[in-house]
Amino acid sequence: MTKRVAILISGGGSNMVALAQSMTGDHPARPVLVLSNDPAAGGLAKASGMGIPVQAIDHKTFGKDRAAFEAVLHDALAAVQPDIICLAGFMRILGADFIGPWEGRILNIHPSLLPKYRGLHTHARALEAGDSHHGCTVHQVTAALDDGPVLGQARMPVLQGDTPDTLAQRLLPLEHALYPAVLRRFAAADLRPVMLDG
Ligand code: GAR
Repeated sequence: MTKRVAILISGGGSNMVALAQSMTGDHPARPVLVLSNDPAAGGLAKASGMGIPVQAIDHKTFGKDRAAFEAVLHDALAAVQPDIICLAGFMRILGADFIGPWEGRILNIHPSLLPKYRGLHTHARALEAGDSHHGCTVHQVTAALDDGPVLGQARMPVLQGDTPDTLAQRLLPLEHALYPAVLRRFAAADLRPVMLDG
């Protein structure tokens, strides 16, 4: 049975594009929805252009009521019955009440070698720490921020003169290789971690 994948984004959606482009041919999954918490997210037009249904649920209209936002988000996802939900540059923290019903089916990509640098500003933090390597992680989402079983990591060396921007730029193509590789395995119920060196 083909797996149904919903992808949540907040911005340009380059990881979403990499995931969507990978789901062709004998791939065990297909994208059924791209959803953004920001109606202005550039990724929405890209998804539409690829023929994927899109939806925006503007978190700002819910003010500080995160539970109300998450209830609407839950209903929008439930309506398309996803087997897998990929967070791809989705910049809202999701609470335990939202995650509960989907736990085990949500993946996230994070721009650090977890467990290092949960949260924001990962590139700057890797530089400040003097790390010799940086990278990205795809993991299953639990109620704890940027935690949960690791399904894959891509590593790259930090070079002399790197800045947060150069690290982000060099890391993005590795994200685009790692996330589709993990999704393909995960959709086939293969939880062995994918390890890439860049
Ligand atoms: C990616 O670098 C992703 O790893 C990061 O946001 C970027 C989204 O880019 N995600 C996080 O920081 C999640 N905490 P994209 O919209 O082009 O995929």
